[in-house]
Amino acid sequence: MSKKIALITGINGQDGSYLTEFLLDKGYEVHGTLKRNSVSENQTSRLCGVFDKLNLHYADLTDLSSLIKVIQIVRPSEVYNLAAQSHVRISFDQPLYTANATGIGTLNMLEAIKLVDPTIKLYQASSSEMFGNNIDEDGYQREGTPMNPVSPYGCAKVFSYNICRNYRNSYGMFISNGILFNHESPRRGTNFVTNKVCKEAVKIYLGLSKKLKLGNLDATRDWGHAKDYVEAMWLILQQDNPDDFVCSTGVSHSVKDLCYYTFSKLGLDYRDYIEIDKKYFRPEELRDLKGDSTKLMNITGWRPTYSFESMLDEMINYWLNFYKK
Ligand code: GDD
Repeated sequence: MSKKIALITGINGQDGSYLTEFLLDKGYEVHGTLKRNSVSENQTSRLCGVFDKLNLHYADLTDLSSLIKVIQIVRPSEVYNLAAQSHVRISFDQPLYTANATGIGTLNMLEAIKLVDPTIKLYQASSSEMFGNNIDEDGYQREGTPMNPVSPYGCAKVFSYNICRNYRNSYGMFISNGILFNHESPRRGTNFVTNKVCKEAVKIYLGLSKKLKLGNLDATRDWGHAKDYVEAMWLILQQDNPDDFVCSTGVSHSVKDLCYYTFSKLGLDYRDYIEIDKKYFRPEELRDLKGDSTKLMNITGWRPTYSFESMLDEMINYWLNFYKK
C-alpha cells in the first residue's frame, strides 16, 4: 500500500508538533505549512526532534493561492487544519485578523481542496470556545449543546465549524470537526494560563521572580494533554464516515485550583504571590467548560491517558529542568 501523506497547517504549534510525531510514527509522509515570520530562529523550535523528517512549505490560510499551490504539490490524503489566531483574549485586540485567519481561512482551505481534489479528507480544529456560556442541564457541553460564542475567536470558529458541515453536506466531502476542549503540555505557549502559571511558579521557587499577575481565577476549564488529543484528531479521520466529535476529559478545575496545585507542588502558597491584573480579563468571559466525549470514546475507542495532575507534573518538571540547565 502506498504511503499516506498528511498536510498539517500550523505544524509548528503545540498540536502540530505532537501530531507530526504521532503521524511519523504511523509511517506517514508529513508536510506542513509555515507562515512567514520576521524572526525565523524560533519558528520551528517545537519541531527540532523531527525536523529532518519533515517537508515544510510557506503558505497562509488567508492566501487562497498559496493553499491551492501547496495542495497541488503535496497531494495529501489527509489535511489537518490546525492553523489559526488561537488566543481568545488577543482576538478582542485583533478581531478582523482573527475573523480572517480563523474563520475565512477555513473556507479558503475548503475551496482549495474542492478545486484540487475533493476526495482529500479534512480534519477541522473546532473548539469548546464555540459553546460560550451554554451548558446542558447536567453541567456538560457536548455535540448537541447550542453554540453561543463570547469572543471574536469563538465567533470565527463557529463560522468554520458550520462552513465545514455545509461543504460536507453540499458536496459529499470527508470533513470532520474535532471540538477540542483546552489541551496543554510543556509546548503550550506561555501566554496561555496553564503554562504561564507553571513557568512563573518555577521562577518564583528558584528566586528568579517575585509575583505572578493573572486575570479571572474563578473560570473553570476542562484541561487535557495535547499528546492525547492529537491521537483523537487522527482517529476522527480514520472513521468510515465524516462526523463531529467533542474531545475532553470530563473533569474541570478552576484557575485557582491550577494555581493551588502548581504552587503546592513547589512547597509554596499561591496566595502569597498572585496579583490580579485587569488586563488579563476578557471583555466577555467564558465562565465554565466541561466536556462530555462519550460519542468519541464509543465510536473510536479514544481514551485520555493523562490526568490534570500528571499533566501539570510534566509541565512543572519541564520548567524546573529548563531553568536548572
Ligand atoms: N491566558 C490567560 N492569562 N488566561 C488567564 C489568565 C492569564 O493571565 N488569568 C486567568 N485566565 C483565565 C482566562 O480568563 C480563561 O478563563 C482561562 O484562564 C483559560 O485561558 P487560556 O489558557 O488563555 O485558554 P482559553 O480557554 O481562553 O482558550 C484556549 O482553549 C480553547 C478551547 O476552549 C485556547 O487554546 C483556544 O485556542 C481554544 O480553542
